Formats: sequence, C-alpha cells, structure tokens
Amino acid sequence: MPYTKLIQAALDAREQSVAPYSRFNVGAALLTAGKEIISGANVESASYGLSCCAERVALFKALTDGHHNFTTITIASSGGAAPCGACRQLLAEYAPEAGVILINSESPDTPETTTVNELLPNSFTGEDFPEP
Ligand code: THU
Repeated sequence: MPYTKLIQAALDAREQSVAPYSRFNVGAALLTAGKEIISGANVESASYGLSCCAERVALFKALTDGHHNFTTITIASSGGAAPCGACRQLLAEYAPEAGVILINSESPDTPETTTVNELLPNSFTGEDFPEP
C-alpha cells in the first residue's frame, strides 16, 4: 500500500477530533508536492454552524504553513464518508489536482479512491472572475 503513512496520519488525526455533539470523528491528511504531511480533525461548537470539518482544518493548517501544492488527501471516518460540499469547494480551489482516499476506520486496509475533480466537476474558482 503506497499511501500507508498518509492513511495512518488521517487515522491518527481522527483521534484528535473534537466532536462532542455529533460524535462523528473525522481525520484528514494532506500530502504536499514536497512530500510533507499536514493533518487535521473536525472541531465542533455548541453553536453547531461554527463547527469545521477535518478537511478544512487540515487545508487551512497547510495553507497557513505556506503549503500550496497538494497531491493527495486522505480522509478517515467511520464508514469512510466523502467530503461535504463546502470542503469540496475549498479543495477544488486549493487542491484541484489532488487524489482523494476515503478510509473507513473499521476497514482501513481497503480504502476507496477518487479525485477532487471527480467530486466537484466544473467547479467555480478564482479563474472565473473577470480580469480587472
Ligand atoms: N465532517 C467532517 O469533518 N468531514 C466530512 O467529510 C463530513 C463531516 C464533520 C463535521 C461535523 O463535525 C461532523 O462530521 C458531523 O457532520
């Protein structure tokens, strides 16, 4: 399994999930073009709408650490859920070429693979703004 380390990073990040309301723990790990791994987990608020998905936590961490090129994102949850619409939008903007590995934490040895482009084809990005 070529992505063993990245998959383990998403599973490890999931352990740090702060999801007292849904108890749905998610971990995500991004692989940068420079082969660094940046991970994150979902964080929930008592004001539910303020909660943030694991994918966005990982992406925001990576971007604000200066990483801008991503080849892969792994996402670990019970059941191997695919990213929500908001995360697909952010991934389409900041990791458009990335492959996506969905990991069911109960069966991590049989991940599903897809791509950001497959999850959100024909996406709206900064390229759609007219030239000033
Ligand atoms: N969640 C994620 O972190 N990533 C996903 O791909 C789907 C949903 C989180 C948000 C919330 O904390 C919990 O899972 C339940 O929706």
